[in-house]
Amino acid sequence: MRESLGRWYRAHGRDLPWRHTQDPYAIWVSEVMLQQTQVATVIPYFQRWMQALPRIPDLAAAPQQRVLKLWEGLGYYRRALNLHKAAQILMQEQQGTFPTDLETVLALPGIGRTTAGGILSAAFNQPVPILDGNVKRVLARLVALQHPPAQCLPLLWQLSEQVLDPVQPRRFNQALMDLGATVCRPKQPRCGECPWQAECSAYNRGQHHQLPMSVPR
Ligand code: ADE
Repeated sequence: MRESLGRWYRAHGRDLPWRHTQDPYAIWVSEVMLQQTQVATVIPYFQRWMQALPRIPDLAAAPQQRVLKLWEGLGYYRRALNLHKAAQILMQEQQGTFPTDLETVLALPGIGRTTAGGILSAAFNQPVPILDGNVKRVLARLVALQHPPAQCLPLLWQLSEQVLDPVQPRRFNQALMDLGATVCRPKQPRCGECPWQAECSAYNRGQHHQLPMSVPR
């Protein structure tokens, strides 16, 4: 399954600006922007931000007004304030470099488990799992989860860790997100194009249109 996903990604993965770098700072900025904002919206903001504030010391030293101005239009402004604050912490505690260990990354403001996994796998090729909305849907369908994903987070984290390719975690995590975004879509999934069709429990049971279950109301 890792191999088939890898082949699919090579042929069909998205070409996104933050995938042309392994700079942890750039990848961190992109992951925070992507927390609540669509890829297409993020791209120009990401490029503008990296031109204006190319390194951690630039962000740490920038006036808050400038940081907020660069974020203007993205919404959820706390994300920008947390990035700013975290850059100042990194100046004080890590000589302005981005940490490589999960615990230190998770201690920074505005970085949860999936953002930490996204950064550490993409920047340092570390085998740290991710579980964003797209990945939850892929995994819930893969095992035909008969509960809303929100009620099964420990199980889904465990699954994300189990499927993760320990040899190429960078490529694997990016591929998993792309599979969820472009093939294993919420509506009208393109199962005919999916490298995991044969292994997908939802597809094999004909439940791919019903799953994942939504939260009862
Ligand atoms: N959403 C969150 N992180 C992402 C990434 N690295 N690529 C595409 N979409 C994402």
